[in-house]
Amino acid sequence: MSIIYDKKQRTITLHTDHTTYQMQIDRYGFLLHLYYGGKADGCMDYLLTYYDRGFSGNPYEAGTDKTYSMDSLPQEFPSLGTGDYRTPACIIKNTDRTYCSDFRYVSHEIRDGKYALPGLPAVYADTAEAQTLEVVLEDPVTGVRAVLLYGVLPRYDIITRSVKIVNASQGYVSVKKLAPACLDLLGGEYDFITFYGRHAMERNCQRMPVGHGVHKIGSLRGTSSHQYNPAVILAARDATEDAGSCYGMAFVYSGGFQSEAGMDQYYQTRVLMGFSEEQFAYPLNPGEELQSPEVILTYSGAGLGQLSRNFHRCIRTHLCRGKYKEKVRPILLNSWEASYFDFTGESLLKLARQAADLGIEMFVLDDGWFGNRDSDLRGLGDWYVNEEKLGCTLGELIGKINGMGLKFGIWIEPEMVNEDSDLYRAHPDWAFVIPGRRPNRSRYQLVLDFSRKEVVDYIFDRICAVLDQGNVEYVKWDMNRSLADVYSATADSQGRVLHDYVLGLYDFLERLVERYPDILIEGCSGGGGRFDAGMLYYTPQIWCSDNTDPIDRLEIQYGTSFIYPASCVGAHVSASPNHQTRRVTSMKTRGMVAMAGTFGYELNLNELDSEEKDEIRRQIAEYKKYASLVQTGTYYRLTNPQTDNQGAWEFVSEDQKEALVQVVGIKKHANMTVDYIKVRGLKENTMYRDTQSGRLYNSTALMEAGVPKPVLEGEYQAFQWHFVCEE
Ligand code: GLA
Repeated sequence: MSIIYDKKQRTITLHTDHTTYQMQIDRYGFLLHLYYGGKADGCMDYLLTYYDRGFSGNPYEAGTDKTYSMDSLPQEFPSLGTGDYRTPACIIKNTDRTYCSDFRYVSHEIRDGKYALPGLPAVYADTAEAQTLEVVLEDPVTGVRAVLLYGVLPRYDIITRSVKIVNASQGYVSVKKLAPACLDLLGGEYDFITFYGRHAMERNCQRMPVGHGVHKIGSLRGTSSHQYNPAVILAARDATEDAGSCYGMAFVYSGGFQSEAGMDQYYQTRVLMGFSEEQFAYPLNPGEELQSPEVILTYSGAGLGQLSRNFHRCIRTHLCRGKYKEKVRPILLNSWEASYFDFTGESLLKLARQAADLGIEMFVLDDGWFGNRDSDLRGLGDWYVNEEKLGCTLGELIGKINGMGLKFGIWIEPEMVNEDSDLYRAHPDWAFVIPGRRPNRSRYQLVLDFSRKEVVDYIFDRICAVLDQGNVEYVKWDMNRSLADVYSATADSQGRVLHDYVLGLYDFLERLVERYPDILIEGCSGGGGRFDAGMLYYTPQIWCSDNTDPIDRLEIQYGTSFIYPASCVGAHVSASPNHQTRRVTSMKTRGMVAMAGTFGYELNLNELDSEEKDEIRRQIAEYKKYASLVQTGTYYRLTNPQTDNQGAWEFVSEDQKEALVQVVGIKKHANMTVDYIKVRGLKENTMYRDTQSGRLYNSTALMEAGVPKPVLEGEYQAFQWHFVCEE
């Protein structure tokens, strides 16, 4: 039993293999948070302290007891209006136009299996693998209910949280703020680790002390965004990669979000994760409900590395779906950096022939194959194959490519429309434009109103009509701008549109996944602008960044690795000098960095000399040797490329018998000092052989003392060790 209700103490305790989470229904019916951390037993309500604290008011029923205040007590779902003046998880505008919600315990239920969320992505599990806790809270005056859901996956050290607001009142209410996850921690000093960035430089890691005041990150863009990732970590000040307490929250949502962390007047820390408040006012008529997306929570008492590994295992095996989720993905060649919009059917076939000759397994036709799309000025929305440009039908092109022994994949951007398109001319009101205002353009395109079913239905039918033309085995789903001018002609309230847009997107994706279960879908939004756990439910891999420079990628993939497994990270070998940075790097270095994800190529193979082509052949053979280890192995960060001389990481097989350590030099000096790379995750005191040199090493020595990284000639050199257990 992973969820235990103690009737006497009125505690509900959630246990995973290594963690415990406890809450208590207190004497006034408030649901208080008692503990989340390493595995522990017994009632922990002794942690709550009661003092008469000035300007911290008391609920009416506390009578003359001035020591009881919601202003200092840790809570599961704090709302505005109870006398808690900290940042709330929920604000509801009631029928009487007040903003008070006073949620009290009504009932709870424990059941086997993990809850699912209708219309939303969520962690899934077999009935025997998980349990669900549902706690019903209600405001006794308005009748509005908050139904808290907890999913517990003991073996994975994962707890998920979601909340449903049910308008059981007699009138109209509006949900102004909703954060399904709240963590109130009584003691300790913490750092808030967030992942900020920009287009082509996503998920840089920032670690900041949580101080007084609220530190808030988020996205107002209608998507999870390049600028902040919807996942955060709260780490004890002294937590490192290998030691210390840390808590992670990953939002399973692809729209706007916010996460807030702050210390209150009594030095207690609160962290929230939920919808972005701006432009959010979700209307609920009597009887209607709003189900929030869920947040994946995990705790590690053994540092950030273990926290990441908890997320990786859960996301890879219990969030990603489809036939490819645990499979090595086909090595692809993407046409974008090879030819951008400038191609013909003939030039594509020439490229494909070259790809097949080198051992590449799939050809992906990127942007430019439809409508009038020869540049980013026009064509989005017109999902009709440009047969004139291809010189044949799509079916014929696919047939020829399949004939070379290659799978075929295609790029789409369903959520967008150019003003210069037949679709926009026919349905100008289908795009987000506020009547009377000129819209904000981005890459010359506007966003289609996916909160409207007829828009989703139309585009879905058009995309299916394309995919049905041949043997399409992969789709790259792109999304190349942020939302603006949010106005939906048919919505009863504009405060619902951003969320309904995301629901429309998920509805489309769900239908696509159902109709084409064998197609591998890769997510993309100008690279990693929508790299989130929500998308990963539909697309088991996401193009990590439009930046293919391997040295920049070290940092991007490092930041990404805190939450997301390597099997989700789209990574390609591109040209040198790199198209984004003009940096020159070797094929080996580019290959090694791309191999730490779902491997592929994205360059004009026809421009390579025979030596480079041979190198690619060798690289592909090598990748195949390690692909399964990379896709399903346990991941360790060995350095921090933001500050260290090199980027280094490691994949260890589940049975710990094999490990691949990869290192790429970043900083270079004359008379270079030697760095020692400490290997991780091997069996203790066991002999391992480095398969390249044949040398035997004691594993504990490798882990405690490390191995000296060779000082190699030239810049950005790559090096790897492959250790195999001798037992
Ligand atoms: C985005 C993607 C690229 C490419 C282009 C095509 O920028 O991230 O990989 O597909 O769009 O327009």
